[in-house]
Amino acid sequence: MERMEVTETFAGVTLPGHLHTQESLAFAATFPFRPTDVVIATYPKSGTTWMQEILTLLFSRGDAVPAKTIPNWERAPWLEQIYFRDAVRDAAARRLITTHLPARVLAPALQQSKAKVIYVARNPKDVAVSFYHFHRLAKFLPDPGSFDTFLTRFLEGTVHYGSWFDHVKGWLGQRHLLDMLYVTYEELHQDLCGTARRLSAFLGCPVAPETLAALEQHCSFAAMRDNAMANYTLIPREIMDHSQGRFMRKGVVGDWRAHFSPLQAALFDRLYQEEMGDAGLPLRWPMA
Ligand code: A3P
Repeated sequence: MERMEVTETFAGVTLPGHLHTQESLAFAATFPFRPTDVVIATYPKSGTTWMQEILTLLFSRGDAVPAKTIPNWERAPWLEQIYFRDAVRDAAARRLITTHLPARVLAPALQQSKAKVIYVARNPKDVAVSFYHFHRLAKFLPDPGSFDTFLTRFLEGTVHYGSWFDHVKGWLGQRHLLDMLYVTYEELHQDLCGTARRLSAFLGCPVAPETLAALEQHCSFAAMRDNAMANYTLIPREIMDHSQGRFMRKGVVGDWRAHFSPLQAALFDRLYQEEMGDAGLPLRWPMA
């Protein structure tokens, strides 16, 4: 497949060349957002796909047909990816757009346009575990080596998509400057309906009890694991090798405990404290 071995560097971050070119990245960086746009911003493996599904169900008022018939990358295309130009639904009254780009690239355009931003973050220890497994499955990402090797690179911020710390600090640092709702993966777990109500209030998109019931059903881990429009099984094996694991892997909170040695956890905690300790950000997950 194309450009599987290529790495692009943009705004100080490396990205897989299979999905990105300098042209697609420049297009993203100069994209004219509209006030009616809804942008999901995440560091990879933080609950992006889950949020795409939740917003699909909210916007369809609980009708599962779009979620079951249109692949998620068409429902909520990635701004920075090669196919975005063709996929963006220009005629749509409300465009749903996804991005993993750092805030420093997009914040000025988002501020100016007053587009709505939903930032989803997750406990970085669980992100690291999920990202490691995803590297084994996704052939457009480098071979991660051992978990220890990968974790070192994750903490250094030299993995594709850059440093988790920079991403979260960059986006949450904009939370009072952008029209932003901040949601964590852990909150989605704890109270999906309550979080969906928060989303509906933020988006000005009323949510009836029947919509919430449908959303709860279709956005469950089991339903999404079996939904080919959300679980990436439509992607050919040369690009995502599902014999190496599932995109919808475990979907739990705290799986890091099954992967981290005490030494890895201590190193992680030390760097987390250095990076996030004084940042004054609302980080809503237990690290221990
Ligand atoms: P795990 O690898 O820990 O299972 P992203 O969409 O940002 O790439 O994130 C993928 C992670 O979100 C995976 O985590 C995946 O299983 C999890 N996920 C996706 N949908 C989910 C759901 N409905 N419930 C719980 N976790 C979900």
